Amino acid sequence: MTNFPDNEPIQDYRRPTTTGGDHRPRPPAPRSSPLGEGEYRHQPVMCGEVVETLRTVPDGVMVDATVGGGGHALALLDAHPGLDLVGLDRDPSALDAARRRLGPHQGRVTLSHARFDALDEVLDGLGHGAVSGCVFDLGVSSPQLDRPDRGFSYRHRGPLDMRMDPTAGCTAADVVNTAAEPALAAMLARNADEPHARRIARAIVARRPFSTTTELAAAVAAAVPARARRRGHPARRTFQAIRIEVNEELGMLDAALARALGRLVPSGRCAVLSYHSGEDRIVKARFRREAGEVPPPRPGLPPPPGAHAAVRLLWRGARTPSPDEADANPRAASARLRAVERIPEAA
Ligand SMILES: C[S@@+](CC[C@H](N)C(=O)[O-])C[C@H]1O[C@@H](n2cnc3c(N)ncnc32)[C@H](O)[C@@H]1O
Repeated sequence: MTNFPDNEPIQDYRRPTTTGGDHRPRPPAPRSSPLGEGEYRHQPVMCGEVVETLRTVPDGVMVDATVGGGGHALALLDAHPGLDLVGLDRDPSALDAARRRLGPHQGRVTLSHARFDALDEVLDGLGHGAVSGCVFDLGVSSPQLDRPDRGFSYRHRGPLDMRMDPTAGCTAADVVNTAAEPALAAMLARNADEPHARRIARAIVARRPFSTTTELAAAVAAAVPARARRRGHPARRTFQAIRIEVNEELGMLDAALARALGRLVPSGRCAVLSYHSGEDRIVKARFRREAGEVPPPRPGLPPPPGAHAAVRLLWRGARTPSPDEADANPRAASARLRAVERIPEAA
């Protein structure tokens, strides 16, 4: 658990896109220049929409389950003076950045080094019961992707690590160097819909052990058919799948969402940003289930008895970033925002 130390210097890592009213087009920023030690630059995705969605929640405690560099958290604290914030992240360097960025609100913020499936333990430990709102901004941050030493990038040479929490768990090298070929192929298909999963798994097993990101990326590129090399980087899906596996990203999401929804006060809201279909499917299914939209066990049968609504969906489907935001921040392009509100009578 981390609270703010006194006199922490505040580092604002936001970069203005234009200066001094000069709105002439500028050359696009490099997509993935490596970040140096201690640097943390992450543009919060759909920030205005997230703040608007959570604007009406009652005063109380807001949980940012993936606080990252504190971009969404800062905007929420600025917009809602009646909220205190509990921020969780499994990455200690994100918590350092959030601590600096949220300095202006330090009396209102508690940060905790924890996975979001430990939400109940964190809130119980702080003496909080029900909460006014909860936000999950899933997946990886830009600094995790951009710092070669974190081992997430197929473009920059680094150790095959990919752990969001470098203090715990197995690394990407452990996964690629030890998993059986059928298990690797299944993981590539399951976590990233990789169409060449079996070829890539075969090539990995034939060429391992791997110790660096670029060795693995080169082996994957050599394994896929030539036409697949023309559509984006051929190792993109493989790296996504391994990262999801290493960090158990899909396995803990549903339970964490259920816990967060169970903690909401009447009229409290939960907003979730997901970045790939595997995550979004889990969010959609959990929200629909809590909204009483339980599918019948077999087509034609009525929904099972006892399916009651604890929340309402704030909109149907998922919202996506504006074209301007997707152009300005390519990492926002795949974002899907869903949100629910706890129904007062059901609390
Ligand atoms: C997209 S970033 C969040 C950025 C943040 N909203 C901001 O505005 O700066 C996702 C963050 O969630 C963290 N994270 C991902 N899965 C997590 C989990 N299961 N438990 C806790 N933190 C997690 C990552 O370490 C990363 O810092």
